[in-house]
Amino acid sequence: MYFGQPFIRVAYFRATINLAMAKISWSFIVFALLFNQCTDVKKQPTESKSTDPHSFSLPDDARVKHLSWNATVDFDTKIINAVATWDIEHSRDADLIIFDTKNLTIKKVTAADGGKPLEYRLADPDSLLGQALAVLIPPDTKKVVIEYQTSPDAEALQWLSPSQTAGKKHPFLFTQSQAILARSWIPCQDSPAIRFTYDAEVHVPTELLALMSAANPQQKNASGIYKFEMRQPIPSYLLALSVGDIAFKPVSARAGVYAEPSVVESAAWEFADLEKMIAGAEALYGKYAWDRYDVIVLPPSFPFGGMENPRLTFVTPTLLAGDRSLTSVIAHELAHSWSGNLVTNATWNDFWLNEGFTVYFEHRIIEALYGHEDAEMHALLALQDLKATIDDLTAANNINDTKLRLDLKGRNPDDAVTDIAYNKGYFFLRSIEEKYGRDKFDAFVRDYFSGHSFQSVNTDLFVAAVKEYYSKNHSITLPDTLFNNWIFTPGLPADCPTPVATKFAPIDSALATFARDGKSLPAKVSWGTQEWLHFIKNLPDTLNVEQLSSLDKFGKLTASGNAEILTVWLVVAIKNNYAPAYPKLEQFLVNTGRRKFLSPLYNALVKTPEGRERAAEIYRKARPNYHFVATSTFDTLIPL
Ligand code: BES
Ligand code: ZN
Repeated sequence: MYFGQPFIRVAYFRATINLAMAKISWSFIVFALLFNQCTDVKKQPTESKSTDPHSFSLPDDARVKHLSWNATVDFDTKIINAVATWDIEHSRDADLIIFDTKNLTIKKVTAADGGKPLEYRLADPDSLLGQALAVLIPPDTKKVVIEYQTSPDAEALQWLSPSQTAGKKHPFLFTQSQAILARSWIPCQDSPAIRFTYDAEVHVPTELLALMSAANPQQKNASGIYKFEMRQPIPSYLLALSVGDIAFKPVSARAGVYAEPSVVESAAWEFADLEKMIAGAEALYGKYAWDRYDVIVLPPSFPFGGMENPRLTFVTPTLLAGDRSLTSVIAHELAHSWSGNLVTNATWNDFWLNEGFTVYFEHRIIEALYGHEDAEMHALLALQDLKATIDDLTAANNINDTKLRLDLKGRNPDDAVTDIAYNKGYFFLRSIEEKYGRDKFDAFVRDYFSGHSFQSVNTDLFVAAVKEYYSKNHSITLPDTLFNNWIFTPGLPADCPTPVATKFAPIDSALATFARDGKSLPAKVSWGTQEWLHFIKNLPDTLNVEQLSSLDKFGKLTASGNAEILTVWLVVAIKNNYAPAYPKLEQFLVNTGRRKFLSPLYNALVKTPEGRERAAEIYRKARPNYHFVATSTFDTLIPL
């Protein structure tokens, strides 16, 4: 719609942005409000509404297609100064485009570099979603150029001082955009259903290297200027940047490892199977679509095990156990190159599609590389975690969060990051596989990935696709109860597959012996990470100090350099008040930012009054080392 008279235009603009914020069919209402005053309305507007509850953008009216990002990273002020040039497409009657922003200072908006200014408004901030940026676009607008700067506490960005790095000499910066934090460093249409290609030019201090989720340099240059290109269209949550004293080591022709110089050798050793994993994944579900696959090992503050930034997975250094035993996280992030990055959840309500498929794929890669028995150990641990999560969510009156498909409107998408999306999603897919056969399921998955590549999929679309595939190709009618029970019903369906982990037999017998007399432990064992996790997680609920100390001696548990084993052991230690583990607990919490480890530990601590005090004391020291996604979780749990 177009309002010729300026005053109506401005009134319209103001009303629009407020109404757009309220997520109601704004153009329809504005039209209704102004219809009587307006004589030169060309045509009746169609109703526009966003289907993503976590983005202000209205992509049916106007959407982004390509980003050219020119940025300067300033470690002194912890600010990125940037120009985001968006190529856009819009419907004939759209007169504005809406971006998501959070804590950005917008300096100027123009129609092209050096071109004429465009009128824009920033809506009132919402504490979760940030601010809609609405830009008025004349009919011929093809580009929107936004000059802006980030805030020093931009939620996606973590600025590390030299002391927070391995090398201790240089600062470090990394981003974490998933789920809705990209808007805190780039004004964008921050919905997983909107894809765009990008190129970038990033200026950094000359002693540092910059990397993005794009074609990357492999070494520093003297200018400190790095250029990037991402030709495959991605959603905004996969925008990523890392800047630091970073070195590279190849692992194969198309895969390699980036890390700080003192870490890069051990990282390349730990991830020596990268190429085998890529080849294994391709053999399962089709060609890798993103050219290179590299991994960057970040400083310990990184809040996740891994993040599937395309072409460059970001991982925690806690994967470097020294025995290659934690590389299933790499298999997981690699699998996202298909489930997630190629076929993407349409909104965060459908997050289980990203993660459930990825856990399924991850387990299949592990099985292909390391055998069925190893994969089954992972699966059984996953089932135990899933059952515990369902019990916890049910006890906390959040039973609806145990459904696969969620309704997160008005809530933080982080609420979906539980074992439900991951492991209930996994067991759902595995149950289809087991019921109708692996060959059929694998053929479906290949078809699903290739048929929906570079597209987004919601739960209904997935259900329709799998039903149609089985019916067309195998004349099998998948029953509605299957989908209702798994996707739309809380809890664990009765037909949940049961993993058979034969490798856990000796552990189960050691557990039984220990439970019987309260002291006997095997003389000598050579257990791997999964075996130890199974053992520690299934110990009796209460243990006395002699028992704890003999278990500690048996497994050298407090001294463990394996963060997975250490975490489950420290939970046992906290529950049973085992003082000898406390110095290590503090050291670990202060020096690790991975939320998956922090959560069980802080949650175990806050269960008692003394524990709460200890938690607060540690959290005060540790908090400066954590990324926003971790502090936003723990600030409510541990009030300081
Ligand atoms: N994409 C996720 C991490 C994520 C999810 C970040 C939601 C922000 C919001 C990543 O692929 C992931 O699942 N990481 C896991 C790995 C594990 C399941 C193997 C992690 O970090 O623990
Ligand atoms: Zn994942």
